[in-house]
Amino acid sequence: MKVTIVGAGNVGATCADVISYRGIASEVVLLDIKEGFAEGKAMDIMQCATTTGFNTKVSGVTNDYSKTANSDVVVITSGIPRKPGMTREELIGINAGIVKSVAENILKFSPNTIIVVVSNPMDTMTYLTLKATGLPKNRIIGMGGALDSSRFKYYLSKALNNHSNDVQGMVIGGHGDTTMIPLTRLASYNGLPVSQFLSQEEMDKVAADTMVGGATLTGLLGTSAWYAPGASVAYLVDSILNDQKRMIPCSVMLEGEYGQTDICMGVPCIIGKNGLEEIVDIKLNDAEKALFAKSADAVRAMNGDLKAVLA
Ligand SMILES: NC(=O)c1ccc[n+]([C@@H]2O[C@H](COP(=O)([O-])OP(=O)(O)OC[C@H]3O[C@@H](n4cnc5c(N)ncnc54)[C@H](O)[C@@H]3O)[C@@H](O)[C@H]2O)c1
Repeated sequence: MKVTIVGAGNVGATCADVISYRGIASEVVLLDIKEGFAEGKAMDIMQCATTTGFNTKVSGVTNDYSKTANSDVVVITSGIPRKPGMTREELIGINAGIVKSVAENILKFSPNTIIVVVSNPMDTMTYLTLKATGLPKNRIIGMGGALDSSRFKYYLSKALNNHSNDVQGMVIGGHGDTTMIPLTRLASYNGLPVSQFLSQEEMDKVAADTMVGGATLTGLLGTSAWYAPGASVAYLVDSILNDQKRMIPCSVMLEGEYGQTDICMGVPCIIGKNGLEEIVDIKLNDAEKALFAKSADAVRAMNGDLKAVLA
């Protein structure tokens, strides 16, 4: 199984690293526009092979799409990351042009591939990729909910003072500080509602911390985070390549689900060898439905900025 990762920066290279040491794919190609950069990252990762004991072949190329031919999955991380104080929304102009041309180049050599979109603003970039390529919706998946949910579980486990693997929870909605919806009502600790262990005030704090989780790291690191984003992409790629049919919140095209149409937003999805295999319908309560509708309004407003790129 072959995976191409476009953008060999922090997130892309971390994703390649996780995919190789976990043996998720037999081949990974890293592609970047910066001369020699992807080659260097690939060589560095390959020099872990004997110490961590993996067999994945990782190679790097500078803008040569012919080397990406016949990829089963392509991950798009190319673009500029969010700087401190910059909103995801402000990234749109720059990243839209990059993502559109990358998707077009990729499909010349891998016409049957499944595309995972990571570049921000991710929901809008996923929508752009769908509109620009005309591919069926099962083959374009935006990664954001997997990361936001892992942050949610991290904050829940901190509040519960327990291990995050004992905690279940999902974040749906847009992948933005103000648009994501951590579903605290449905979060559980080994099958028991977290509300049995945490006060409303504590659950509200978990949700608030989750929503600014990315910004907190950007403030600390001076650029956006990469370990958890890279690992979250690898988790999603694993579910596709190995047909694991995991339920992962992903940004996908909605056609009536959750009361929305013509928009890509985070909803629980079954992810397998065909990419998006099913959208899972959660019975949201009225308050959650209202948050989802508000989130959709914000994502839709951002999609409006794509007019020039899609013209
Ligand atoms: N969806 C998510 O959950 C999530 C999480 C973290 C970061 N991100 C986003 O992912 C993107 C990458 O973040 P990062 O921290 O890895 O940034 P980075 O700057 O470290 O890496 C981006 C790479 O893309 C390359 N690039 C730029 N234009 C290109 C092009 N046309 N073709 C090929 N490569 C090109 C750059 O040279 C750079 O190496 C950003 O948009 C960031 O906001 C999304």
